[in-house]
Amino acid sequence: MPKIFVTRRIPERGLDLLYTAFGKEAVTVAPQDNAITRSDLLAGVRGMDALLCILTERIDAELLDAAGPQLRIVANYAVGYNNIDVAAATARKIPVSNTPGVLTETTADLAWTLLVSAARRVTEGERYLRAGRWESWGPTLLMGQDIHGATLGIYGMGRIGQAMAERARGFQMRVIYTDVVRLPEERERELNVSYVDMTTLLKDSDFISIHCPLMPETTHAFSTKEFAAMKPTAVLVNSARGPVIDEPALAEALKQGQIFSAGLDVYEDEPTIHPDLLACENVVLLPHLGSASFETRSRMAEIAASNIVARLQGQTPPTCVNPEVL
Ligand code: GLV
Ligand code: GLV
Repeated sequence: MPKIFVTRRIPERGLDLLYTAFGKEAVTVAPQDNAITRSDLLAGVRGMDALLCILTERIDAELLDAAGPQLRIVANYAVGYNNIDVAAATARKIPVSNTPGVLTETTADLAWTLLVSAARRVTEGERYLRAGRWESWGPTLLMGQDIHGATLGIYGMGRIGQAMAERARGFQMRVIYTDVVRLPEERERELNVSYVDMTTLLKDSDFISIHCPLMPETTHAFSTKEFAAMKPTAVLVNSARGPVIDEPALAEALKQGQIFSAGLDVYEDEPTIHPDLLACENVVLLPHLGSASFETRSRMAEIAASNIVARLQGQTPPTCVNPEVL
């Protein structure tokens, strides 16, 4: 009987797949529904054949060695896998899988929520009302930026970036994007988007939404120089990974009115929020909820589990990110 370690409670549909394939006794789910400590993680993984982990857990050489040579797959419960040292896994011939595709639309929905909220001061308005400060309708009260007809700049045109572009159509927006790879011309036409360089993206966008993976090249891609190049009316949205933005630089730009507002779902040091950001009224802050719909979180659990089932049954894990090890 193989042994599977699930580092945190996940939706039942994923666990059911594992129970059906290997029996309930094969699966150890970490008992607490909060972040596992490093030492519990190192102890829990020992002797396991498969690991189902979440994005806050650092899966590195030390952890892979702590597991032992029988470890046959690391299934990340996320599309992003910057928490995993894939090179270390590859060196040990261990496949790593993620959960692409299923969370694309749900994450784009959330990015759009941040965009609208930051543009129209939704959370600021609610704080104002709940604080009992609303005395009367006002001609200049809490004015924000128009979304319809504006220019949306997308930084990173993968699946989620493209889903974001599709949503912009209903708002009659012009959509520009930048990425290391350009979309095929036919896809650009279909989405009605234009490829631009970073300088143009910063200069022309009324809204910038970040949808790149975290890599050395994208770390602090948005810092002092970039904020200075943006419009003072611009809104910045990040639902990708926190370190793409230099947070103290963003807080300063928000404070100085160098940009209008921001909407963030991800942070450099989750769950710690930079105090300068907390001090800004013009930023919408959510606790990494991009994929958090009932259905999507269940489907992510199914995909993570199905990679484990496939691997332990001698088949190809369907969403492996280092297939060269197979
Ligand atoms: C969430 O952040 C994910 O990468 O799935
Ligand atoms: C994530 O799934 C992306 O490619 O945008």
